[in-house]
Amino acid sequence: MPASIYILGSTNTDMTIRNERLPLPGETISGGVFLLAAGGKGANQAVAVARLFPAGRTVFIGKVGKDLFGEETAQRMAREGMEARLLVDPVQASGTALILVDGQGQNSISVALGANGTLSPQEAWDQLHDLEGAAALLLQLETPLETVCRAAERAKQAKVPVLLNPAPARPLPASLYPLLEWITPNEREAEQLTGVAVTDEGSAARAAAILQGRGVANVLITLGSRGCWCSATGRLHPARRVEAVDCVAAGDTFNGAFAVALAEGRPWEEAIAFAQEAAAISVTRPGAQPSIPRREELSPRFP
Ligand code: RIB
Repeated sequence: MPASIYILGSTNTDMTIRNERLPLPGETISGGVFLLAAGGKGANQAVAVARLFPAGRTVFIGKVGKDLFGEETAQRMAREGMEARLLVDPVQASGTALILVDGQGQNSISVALGANGTLSPQEAWDQLHDLEGAAALLLQLETPLETVCRAAERAKQAKVPVLLNPAPARPLPASLYPLLEWITPNEREAEQLTGVAVTDEGSAARAAAILQGRGVANVLITLGSRGCWCSATGRLHPARRVEAVDCVAAGDTFNGAFAVALAEGRPWEEAIAFAQEAAAISVTRPGAQPSIPRREELSPRFP
């Protein structure tokens, strides 16, 4: 049986307009380019795992609406070679995101969670019935918080490490932190969770210490083009310089890749380099899932 990585989370259809800059409130700007593409933090992370872990098994658990976007999601996930356990909400629409990207690749995102918001704790527990023996469970925060907590409890019961990407950030219950092997906020999310403005290595270390004080085993704070800070290595890992076109799903690519590298038993330093390389490729291409690289696109140091 190949190593398995489970991902529980959201699936969205992203409608993106790329323009020179983001409009101000009340302003209309024209001249942009439109892209319709698959997205959602959970589904993006699952696609990253499936493309970067061809020798492994990828299991995605999520919820869609009874509509065209939901049907397309199921077909696309099957094409990616993953096992998609997609529940269907008879009332809510499939998740949708409206995304604006500026000339530097920075974005603003507004999400209508739809069916993602009705994935229940019991459904998560049931769909994780065979979690035992998995290498990791990846979670994010675009599904109900009670569902995320229940999934983490199930992972604890199954002795499977949980990686939580706390995006989009919101306050977390104290009981969740001790269930986490890794938490991977970006700098804004780290600040929202800890109150520490993360601006450099020292403040990243202070924010990480607060999260570890709450019971998380390891903390990795992503810092965009500056790289990431990791509690396990105790240092900043600078990112490779690339020409960014669109940063949507860069964090998701990083998280999926990092889980793959850990599942392959790579040491921390190497796991971070692997995730950074995958994320660097993703920002050079438009769209969420269309931008996520396949394993053969990574350098030969990661055969
Ligand atoms: O992390 C990027 C994702 O956030 C997009 O694909 C969008 O769907 C939102 O969920």
